[in-house]
Amino acid sequence: MSSQLAIQFTLFVFTLSTQASPTASRATLPTVLTDGSERRAPQAHDSGTLSTNNVTAIRFFNAERATRELKSVMTKYANAGKFLSGIGLNPDTHPEKGYPEFHAPNKSTFSQTTSSAGMVSLTSSNTTADGSNQGIIHVTPVARQPGTLQMPLTDWISDSMDILYYGAMNFGQKQTVLQIDVDTGSADLWVPVNCKRCTNASYLPDRKGNYQSTGKKCTVTYGTGRVSGIVSQDTVGIGNTAVANQTFCAVTKVSNDLDDEPVSGLLGLAFGSIAQASNDSTFFENLLESKALAASVFSVCFGCYDPTKAMGPITWNNLESRTYWSITMNGLSVNDTQHQTKLTAAIDTGTSLIYVPAEVADAFYDLIPGSSATVQYGGGFYSFPCDTKLTVSLMFGGQSYAIHPADFNIGKIDDDSGDCIGGIISLGDGFPNNLVIVGDEFLKSWYSVYDYSGRVGFAPSINNR
Ligand SMILES: *[C@@H]1O[C@H](CO)[C@@H](O)[C@H](O)[C@H]1NC(C)=O
Ligand SMILES: *[C@@H]1O[C@H](CO)[C@@H](O)[C@H](O)[C@H]1NC(C)=O
Ligand SMILES: *[C@@H]1O[C@H](CO)[C@@H](O)[C@H](O)[C@H]1NC(C)=O
Ligand SMILES: *[C@@H]1O[C@H](CO)[C@@H](O)[C@H](O)[C@H]1NC(C)=O
Ligand SMILES: *[C@@H]1O[C@H](CO)[C@@H](O)[C@H](O)[C@H]1NC(C)=O
Ligand SMILES: *[C@@H]1O[C@H](CO)[C@@H](O)[C@H](O)[C@H]1NC(C)=O
Ligand SMILES: *[C@@H]1O[C@H](CO)[C@@H](O)[C@H](O)[C@H]1NC(C)=O
Repeated sequence: MSSQLAIQFTLFVFTLSTQASPTASRATLPTVLTDGSERRAPQAHDSGTLSTNNVTAIRFFNAERATRELKSVMTKYANAGKFLSGIGLNPDTHPEKGYPEFHAPNKSTFSQTTSSAGMVSLTSSNTTADGSNQGIIHVTPVARQPGTLQMPLTDWISDSMDILYYGAMNFGQKQTVLQIDVDTGSADLWVPVNCKRCTNASYLPDRKGNYQSTGKKCTVTYGTGRVSGIVSQDTVGIGNTAVANQTFCAVTKVSNDLDDEPVSGLLGLAFGSIAQASNDSTFFENLLESKALAASVFSVCFGCYDPTKAMGPITWNNLESRTYWSITMNGLSVNDTQHQTKLTAAIDTGTSLIYVPAEVADAFYDLIPGSSATVQYGGGFYSFPCDTKLTVSLMFGGQSYAIHPADFNIGKIDDDSGDCIGGIISLGDGFPNNLVIVGDEFLKSWYSVYDYSGRVGFAPSINNR
């Protein structure tokens, strides 16, 4: 099921801002619309028996979806150990050179209440973290500023998980529009080209256009399968801003597990150093290189559109390496009890949940009374009593970042059980024992800003209102 939300992805002067939807489970979250109207966030979509309008309903854990994501995370990060230790990387061209240091705009600049055409309208609930901003907040779309570009995204929710966030990109001089998954956890762009066996739309380059094939083969692992094709170049853009010769994998073979997804291809927003198919600069890097943007930053906010991004200031974390958006994680906590350990976290919009090494998962769930590792889903998942009240946080730079409880709880085991599955999943053997993948479950609570100068920032998202 797809929820057509007001989501925006803004490669802009200051930030590229992805406004994706709140989670299916957080039915009362604010929804942002770009058309000036108001709308409530979608209600929980669960595996069938509960009303989608019942905001108090507990959704059920969808084992099939969750185990599929666990498998795909294992595949996606198969080379992570190598990359994070600096092996097999493409050269880093530092496309951010020459850009000024990024300063977040002040909130007061944006929290306008005047309504007029082109203003973004945001419905909010009555309770806000800072006790203000009741009702509707109107904010000026930042993407209208020069050097910005905006990619409205849709949150694809299926089986009560936010599976992916996608938006329109255009290909070729005729600007063929295709729907593309947006992923900060990988660095290749791939799109089907003349793909007869693909379920979804593919790009048919114009013979008179700029499309060029290098003849080199490319393969990208995606989901639990893979796509393969030929490394190619063409004009690729968002709106009217384009990169003239963008390298991408022109895919002619797509594995079946993509068939039910509403996208044709994928845009990787990690560093080109880890591009595995094209071995070339990413779309965002090429925008920087061509000085198309006013700042070397993009940002991602789930479920909101507030150019202040947040209900508080941005806290920055320096990158450990320019590969994934990788930062140091100091541990996890339940309420005020911490499990401290030094980890590397990859901040990944393309992953729904949070994945940690097995020992870390054990130590973390030890902090939750009544929790235990479940065996019935093939390993990796833990249950805890559904009625447990807890604040689960991730720690970066000595600061705790709480996850909205409704996002940590990924569903009740079944009708007869009082146990729910936790959204922190254990990664199996063979996986780097210090790597954490931080997906949308966390990013829905924390507005994230990705700065090419080498840092990731988090600010409390207006989702938490
Ligand atoms: C909503 O779900 C809860 C919990 O399952 C149930 O007790 C309640 O009756 C439901 N309300 C409606 C209006 O369906
Ligand atoms: C934000 O406000 C502070 C204090 O008023 C000011 O010093 C700073 O320059 C402002 N920042 C921006 C980006 O406008
Ligand atoms: C906010 O509270 C007022 C008064 O209690 C109520 O009438 C209104 O419907 C509430 N608005 C929302 C968005 O919940
Ligand atoms: C793109 O590639 C074509 C063919 O190599 C070349 O003629 C053209 O100048 C390139 N455009 C840019 C902007 O680099
Ligand atoms: C992709 O294919 C799926 C399954 O057939 C369909 O539901 C979806 O609308 C298609 N999306 C696009 C953008 O073509
Ligand atoms: C990209 O680099 C990898 C590792 O160096 C290599 O195996 C692969 O063939 C390269 N791909 C292309 C298209 O050049
Ligand atoms: C966490 O704190 C809440 C509120 O104080 C309390 O009700 C709950 O029992 C605590 N949970 C755990 C696991 O300590």
